[in-house]
Amino acid sequence: MGKLQNKVAVITGGASGIGAATAKLFVSEGAKVVLVDLNEEKGKAFEEELKAQGAEALFVKANITSEEEVAKVFKQATSIFDKVDIVFNNAGIGRVHSSHDLEYSEWRNTVNVDLDGVFLVAREAIRGMLENGGGTIVNTASMYGWVGSPGSAAYNAAKGGVINLTRSLALEYAEKDIRINALCPGFIDTPIIPEENKKELSSITPMKRLGKSEEMAKAVLFLASDDSSYMTGNSLTVDGGYTAQ
Ligand SMILES: NC(=O)c1ccc[n+]([C@@H]2O[C@H](COP(=O)([O-])OP(=O)(O)OC[C@H]3O[C@@H](n4cnc5c(N)ncnc54)[C@H](O)[C@@H]3O)[C@@H](O)[C@H]2O)c1
Repeated sequence: MGKLQNKVAVITGGASGIGAATAKLFVSEGAKVVLVDLNEEKGKAFEEELKAQGAEALFVKANITSEEEVAKVFKQATSIFDKVDIVFNNAGIGRVHSSHDLEYSEWRNTVNVDLDGVFLVAREAIRGMLENGGGTIVNTASMYGWVGSPGSAAYNAAKGGVINLTRSLALEYAEKDIRINALCPGFIDTPIIPEENKKELSSITPMKRLGKSEEMAKAVLFLASDDSSYMTGNSLTVDGGYTAQ
């Protein structure tokens, strides 16, 4: 029996990168998955790919910064699959830009997706989990939630916020059987990292390579499943040694 047999998992950013790799692993462990993403073309195609392999999967196009759209995702998920047990709160954006000429609108947009959106999804997830008697949430932060870097002030501030949001929500709902942890990836080979930066980012990583989405998925499975049954409020760093420096 799989580690997530008959569990229902909502995965934001589920059409690409870390979210898609996690959906594949969850499905192989017996979960039904609800893929949430802005990218309809990729999301639909991935839903079909998973279904063709015999999985129960549903793609829902939604923007995690919209309260209404986030509420609709959970409504749709529960109307089809009855309940939501696991939420991988993972959609995010990242851009490099020097801070002295960063437009306020761009700051707001980054914080809106990478922090506000994570809150909106967590809030809706918790509402359902309170009714169902529990669940697990894994928020995607970043190693840049722990350490700084030049040119990514908005992203790093938002990701630092996700780490402390995770601690705070975990404490608030610990007695309600809702475990909330975060994943802090290092440099992972996904479309979020521009091709031209990959060589340099590998060279500044102690393990001298980028991480793979599949390596993140294994850590997410650990945090989402009973394998981490006594963990909450934790932020697990999987970064090839970067933050050990
Ligand atoms: N790849 C890395 O090096 C790395 C490192 C640290 C943290 N992360 C984090 O991992 C998460 C996943 O990123 P990834 O590397 O898989 O990148 P990705 O670009 O492959 O996937 C992100 C997905 O999120 C979706 N998305 C973006 N904004 C959205 C919104 N407002 N509503 C709904 N969906 C939205 C995108 O369409 C995309 O499919 C992000 O939160 C990112 O910040 C990535």
